[in-house]
Amino acid sequence: MAYTLDLSGRVALITGASGGLGEQFAKTLAQAGAAVVLASRRTDRLMNLRAHIEAAGGQAHVVAMDVTDLASIKAAVAHAETEVGPIDILINNSGVSTTQRLQDVTEEDYDFVFNTNTRGAFFVAQEVGKRMLARAKGAAPGTYVGGRIINIASMAGLKVLPQIGVYCMSKAAVVHMTRAMATEWGRFGINVNAICPGYIDTEINHHHWQTEQGQKLIAMLPRKRVGTPADLDALLVMLCSAESHFINGAVIAADDGFAV
Ligand SMILES: NC(=O)c1ccc[n+]([C@@H]2O[C@H](COP(=O)([O-])OP(=O)(O)OC[C@H]3O[C@@H](n4cnc5c(N)ncnc54)[C@H](OP(=O)(O)O)[C@@H]3O)[C@@H](O)[C@H]2O)c1
Repeated sequence: MAYTLDLSGRVALITGASGGLGEQFAKTLAQAGAAVVLASRRTDRLMNLRAHIEAAGGQAHVVAMDVTDLASIKAAVAHAETEVGPIDILINNSGVSTTQRLQDVTEEDYDFVFNTNTRGAFFVAQEVGKRMLARAKGAAPGTYVGGRIINIASMAGLKVLPQIGVYCMSKAAVVHMTRAMATEWGRFGINVNAICPGYIDTEINHHHWQTEQGQKLIAMLPRKRVGTPADLDALLVMLCSAESHFINGAVIAADDGFAV
């Protein structure tokens, strides 16, 4: 006998699905049975991913979304719900980073990071959350299956790291945003949790690992390794499942022990 988690019949919106963690999250949730809605700006990449998921027997749809643009968020969420159905699961994953010392941060750097990671994540969750709340309030007993919002923060939201101070600040805000949403929305069956990944090899940092600084960083890590996107699969599926109904407002490090 095996223990399984099944997301069949659920609709999951994944922001930042055009690469890295978001691409893996979409493949994993589709494999677990969810219909996935792939969102980001580079829709050509999303269409390739859709083809890949469909070829593997999954259901996938594409919406263009720029998380720094509220009109774009609203249009994308409305489009997703009209085309696919009510969103049960949000993976709030789009994110960017810059590297520089605090004294060198420009207004553009600051706005770039905060507008995507913090403001963008907030308004995506708000738009999806409003719809989940409306369904929760209007649902006949037994018809509403609850919502799941998973914010992709970072272990940098828990532990300050040099040269990415603004990124750390933006992710610390996502950690607190998670708790605030969990507090207000939990009683409506909407569970809001955060995953704080450690270093995972994706486009956001791939160039770094071969450099001298990157190699030094790996040598400092508890197990001298960076992760792969699939290392978050089990945690992600668990947080999306109905079985995780008792987990709300949790901020879970998946960082190979780095932030301890
Ligand atoms: N990799 C790591 O080590 C690591 C560790 C901790 C946390 N994280 C977090 O995990 C998330 C994914 O990171 P990743 O490593 O997968 O990075 P990535 O490969 O660079 O992917 C970033 C994704 O964000 C999307 N994005 C950026 N700006 C956007 C915007 N304005 N509107 C919509 N989407 C936007 C990009 O899509 P488009 O360009 O197509 O719009 C892309 O799909 C981020 O929030 C990151 O901070 C990553």
